[in-house]
Amino acid sequence: MPIALRIEQLNKHFANGKHALRGIDLTVHAGEMVALIGASGSGKSTLLRHVAGLVVADGDSHSLVEVDGRCVQQGGRIHRDIRKVRSQVGFVFQQFNLVDRLPVMMNVLVGMLHRTPRWRGWLRVFRPHERALALEALARVGIADCHAQRASTLSGGQQQRAAIARTLVQGAKVVLADEPIASLDPESSRKVMDILARINREDGSTVIVSLHQVDVAIKYCPRVVALHQGRVVYDGPSADLTPALLRELYGVQADEILGAALPQAPATAPVQQPAHGWVQPLAQAA
Ligand SMILES: Nc1ncnc2c1ncn2[C@@H]1O[C@H](COP(=O)(O)OP(=O)(O)OP(=O)(O)O)[C@@H](O)[C@H]1O
Ligand SMILES: [Mg+2]
Repeated sequence: MPIALRIEQLNKHFANGKHALRGIDLTVHAGEMVALIGASGSGKSTLLRHVAGLVVADGDSHSLVEVDGRCVQQGGRIHRDIRKVRSQVGFVFQQFNLVDRLPVMMNVLVGMLHRTPRWRGWLRVFRPHERALALEALARVGIADCHAQRASTLSGGQQQRAAIARTLVQGAKVVLADEPIASLDPESSRKVMDILARINREDGSTVIVSLHQVDVAIKYCPRVVALHQGRVVYDGPSADLTPALLRELYGVQADEILGAALPQAPATAPVQQPAHGWVQPLAQAA
C-alpha cells in the first residue's frame, strides 16, 4: 500500500515556550482509518494542523511532513506548492467551520474552489455539473433536502455532515477530522462516524480522526495512535489497547472519558505489553 502520510522528527514549540510535539514519527498507509487519542492538551489538534500545513514545525529541526508523497513542510518551512497538497487534504473541524449565512450548497461548493478559476469563486459562479456533484455529496451524507437552507439553520449533526460533503467534493485523498463528534449528541455522532467509515471503505480515502471517546475509536478504527504530552506512546491495533494504558493516558479523567471502553481492571494492574504496537512505556515517556 502506498504511503498516505509520512511524519518524521516533528517537534513543535509554541511562542509561549510550550513544547507541544516531541519527536513524532508516524507513517499511515493509503486506505487506513486511524484514531488519534490522548488527554486534553496531549497534542492531537496540533499534530493534525501540522499535517494540513496550518502550523509550521520548529525551524531548527529535520522535520518532514508528506501527504501522498508530496511535501507539506520540511525543516520548519511550508512547501511552496502547499496549495496543491492542501487540495488533497480535507479537514473536518469540531466546530464545523461553515459560513453560517451561506446556503449549505454554497458551503459544499467551496470544496471545489481549488480547481475552479479564481474569478468564478469570487462571483460564486458554479457550473451545473459542479452543483450536481455537490448535491450528490449532500445525498451521500443524507442531507440533500437541506441544500438550500442557510448553514446556521442546520442542527450540529447536519452541519458536520455538510462539512464532510465539502471534503467529498474536494476529492480529498486524506481526511483529517479533529474531534468531529465532540459537539454532537450520540445519534448524530454515530451518523458522522458511519459516514467517515464509509468514505474510508468505499472511496479508499485515508481517514485520521482525533477522538476523546475511546470506545468510538475502538469501534471504528482498526489502528490507534495515542499521544501523551506531545509524544506517541502507543501505535498499534485498537484491539490491543489495555485498560492500564488507557488509565495512564487519561489519568483522573479516565472513568469519565472512557465509559464503556474501560473494562473494570484494578487500577494497580501492571501495564501489559501487547505483541506489537508499543512505542515506549508511558512512565518513561513523561
Ligand atoms: N497557538 C498556541 N499557542 C500556545 N500553545 C498552544 C497553541 N496551540 C496549542 N497549544 C498548546 O499545545 C498543547 C497541545 O494542544 P492541542 O490543542 O494540540 O491539544 P489536544 O490534544 O488537541 O487537546 P484537546 O483534546 O483539548 O483538543 C496544549 O498544551 C496547548 O495549550
Ligand atoms: Mg484538540
